[in-house]
Amino acid sequence: MACAVAMVCTVLLGTQWGDEGKGKITDLLSRDHDAVVRFQGGNNAGHTIVVGGVKFKLHLVPSGVIRGGIASVIGDGCVVDPWVLEKELRDLELRGISTANVVLSDRAHLIMPYHRELDRVQETSRAGSSKVGTTGRGIGPCYQDKMGRTGIRASDLRYPPLLEEKVRKGCRDAAAICGALGSPVTFDPAVILRELHELGEVLVPRVRDAPALLNDMMDKGARVLLEGAQGTFLDIDRGTYPFVTSSSCSTGNASAGSGIGPSWFERVIGVVKAYTTRVGEGPFPTELTDHVGEMMRDVGCEFGTTTNRPRRCGWLDLVLVRSSVKWNSIDDLALTKTDVLSSLKEVLVCTEYSIPREAAERCGLPTVIRDFPSHLELLKECRPVYRKLKGWGELSKEEWEACRAEGTLPPGLDGYVSLIEREVLAAVTLVSYGPGRDETIELGGS
Ligand code: IMP
Repeated sequence: MACAVAMVCTVLLGTQWGDEGKGKITDLLSRDHDAVVRFQGGNNAGHTIVVGGVKFKLHLVPSGVIRGGIASVIGDGCVVDPWVLEKELRDLELRGISTANVVLSDRAHLIMPYHRELDRVQETSRAGSSKVGTTGRGIGPCYQDKMGRTGIRASDLRYPPLLEEKVRKGCRDAAAICGALGSPVTFDPAVILRELHELGEVLVPRVRDAPALLNDMMDKGARVLLEGAQGTFLDIDRGTYPFVTSSSCSTGNASAGSGIGPSWFERVIGVVKAYTTRVGEGPFPTELTDHVGEMMRDVGCEFGTTTNRPRRCGWLDLVLVRSSVKWNSIDDLALTKTDVLSSLKEVLVCTEYSIPREAAERCGLPTVIRDFPSHLELLKECRPVYRKLKGWGELSKEEWEACRAEGTLPPGLDGYVSLIEREVLAAVTLVSYGPGRDETIELGGS
């Protein structure tokens, strides 16, 4: 029975609006696992890993691939652009990273060229303030087809007549929608099918029944790391709807999107960036449009891994993190990019929101709230309540390394971490101070 051996799976996910540094933490934790699984999203994600000064940017392949020797599974809940996956695999091989253990779930849905075009046309057709700011990778339209039960799954590559029927219908439907939205365009199913046939030669050998594979592995004692993409506030249900992605980035979907039952989950680790960022549109209570925000963007290299768009930056918002901890049953936290704030003498942390009396009465809430509100109209009225803390100053490489060796935090950062722990009721067990695999302080406690 699964319950008897439920000390097996770790779920790792983002507690903010994505880009928390999940790739680095996944790479670090992959040393204790036999498989790393992506369970949602597609190449809207961009996970950066730096090993020995060499940078790798992954979009679809799970971050465990860099360590090697473990299974890297693109799970049922993902949407996969076969053109992008083939290129990512080829590029990894060219850089000496083996992709022999990369598996594509037979149930994962495939992004077609018409999905990418639909993404662009739908976004263009949205009026100014209702633009989502999507990554333009066809993610939303592919999930629309999945939910509409007309999608193409990886296993369809094995059935050419069925694939042809689906691709022809997909092209027709997409052309009709683009036309209705005022952007007439045609798609050539013959070209798509020919290219899919070529891609299939590379990809089909990797297409497997991923839930069967993973459950078999776990029955034999394997440990599995489930790697979330995006973050809690981009989640289709709990995020800042409609400025969200089209999948669920939460713990529940780690089960649904992988085919691993939740009783296998031993630990849920939330990744928190030491400040807050978001790409795309939507309200952002702690956003900074001054020189401090610019410093965060420049020093933190806050430009999208996938789209290169500048990210909006602001103070750490613990209302977000607190709600994420509750909704996802997060056991412990990995705090990333603490070095980015080193130049600041003082740092602010938002612990709650104050809302005008009239808004509070309308929504039946007190004038100070500690849980993230569900409606954007209310979020727009929220004003952050800040705590001011002493910074930790610039530390030399040797000083950081001494902290790492001792498993302690420098003065100032210890207070920052204690405040986070007290406010969100989860222990911080990892503190990252640079992009490198080794630039991480392990605090124990997990
Ligand atoms: P989509 O996922 O391309 O449909 O984009 C929907 C929203 O999610 C946009 O605001 C994107 O900027 C945002 N988004 C999607 N993926 C990521 C990510 O990996 N990091 C940060 N934001 C993302």
